[in-house]
Amino acid sequence: MPVQIIVGAQWGDEGKGKIVDHLSEHVDIVARYQGGANAGHTVVLPARGKTKEREFVLHLIPSGIFHPHVTCVIGNGVVIDPKALMAEIAQLRSAGINTKGRLLISHNAHLIMPYHKALDTIREQGDQKIGTTGRGIGPAYIDKYMRTGIRVVDLLDRDVLCKKLRRNIEEKNELLRKVYGATELDLDALIQEYQEFDREIDEYVTDTSEYLNRALRKKRSILAEGAQGALLDVDHGTYPYVTSSNPTSGGACTGLGIPPTSVRSIMGVVKAYSTRVGNGPFPTELTDETGERLRSVGGEFGATTGRPRRCGWLDLVSLAYSIRVNGITEIAITKLDVLDAFDEIPVCIQYRVGSKTLSGFPTDVQTLEKVTPVYRIFKGWRTQTSDVRAFRDLPPNARSYIRFLEKSLRVRIGMVSVGARRDQTLHVR
Ligand code: GDP
Ligand code: IMO
Ligand code: MG
Repeated sequence: MPVQIIVGAQWGDEGKGKIVDHLSEHVDIVARYQGGANAGHTVVLPARGKTKEREFVLHLIPSGIFHPHVTCVIGNGVVIDPKALMAEIAQLRSAGINTKGRLLISHNAHLIMPYHKALDTIREQGDQKIGTTGRGIGPAYIDKYMRTGIRVVDLLDRDVLCKKLRRNIEEKNELLRKVYGATELDLDALIQEYQEFDREIDEYVTDTSEYLNRALRKKRSILAEGAQGALLDVDHGTYPYVTSSNPTSGGACTGLGIPPTSVRSIMGVVKAYSTRVGNGPFPTELTDETGERLRSVGGEFGATTGRPRRCGWLDLVSLAYSIRVNGITEIAITKLDVLDAFDEIPVCIQYRVGSKTLSGFPTDVQTLEKVTPVYRIFKGWRTQTSDVRAFRDLPPNARSYIRFLEKSLRVRIGMVSVGARRDQTLHVR
């Protein structure tokens, strides 16, 4: 049963890119199963020869791409922005990283069209702002579920593409013009643009579900890379302040076309504190100087949009919930080093509303906005951890912090990350 799923256990940006790159050394295939170019997964490659250390931010291509033996898959559950994908392939190519023969794109994945991005941006100007990344994600998934979306496979047949695009463009132009007073899009220009894209991606397109199931029969190992995080899940997150897909582990099976019985383990990536980009409730948010300090020490600015991330302490109530809805079997703690300089490290262990203690994580925004976090305060370690290479060499207070998390969450912490680089990763036990 060689599938391991990697999920973000909070509101995204937990360091999934770093962890996936690290684990890719020992897997055959890395596959993205949902979301699109709203994701920003950072991977730092070490200096080699004359090449200096390099940082890459991936939006659509799986974070296993830096290991030449790994095949990367963009599954049917992903929504693909051709422009973003081509730019990413070109960026990798210019850095000497080859995608040919190593990247497979599902013929069933839906395409993001310029009108999706226009609608995403325009809708965000209304009064119920989600704070989206503006990458057209919501509108593209709307069309998928309306059954009017355009898929990669539609690019193969000019007549089919023209028919579908014409129908969509007419409808969207009417919406853009009448409702929003925005500029209309030109059908012919769009057809030409997407046919060009078809020529460029043709060699990558295949039935990826069939490919993955064949790989499973051959006992090859697959790592399913989640984007976003559990609390941004459209079903299980803080709705409506969520993304439009299922980042939780269940999404991996539908988003890749692999059976649930093939899944062996589910790793939750957990940042040692909390961040959130965009709007929505965030019980442990710090809007004071401490929050500012977490943001500047942790470099908490969006990898996709550059927006400052909202910061706060770790929240065990939401994490216990995330563990439950994902079935997390192992945790990787990231960015422990960011806490090095803090005298005290509070961790939220309970939510209260008035004098009442809640029994779990409420997913209705009305309640969540009212909760007061109850903290347990840990003594900081005040020692630099970024050079530590073994768990036992961490300062005692840092080990106590990790052990407390493990005991409270009742899930094994298998990895601790103390820096963005590959070698700054400790394996526990
Ligand atoms: P993702 O979306 O979950 O892949 O995370 P992002 O790449 O958006 O954000 C994580 C940021 O933290 C990136 O800039 C990483 O390079 C960085 N990072 C990852 N792990 C660590 C760590 O253990 N310590 C520090 N200081 N930075 C880290
Ligand atoms: P990675 O994979 C953090 C957030 C947006 C917004 C909400 C909806 O890098 O962890 P969308 O554009 O998806 O419709 O926006 O979700 N969001 C993310 N936050 N990390 C991400 O991805 C995110 N992708 C979307 O900020 O609040
Ligand atoms: Mg990110």
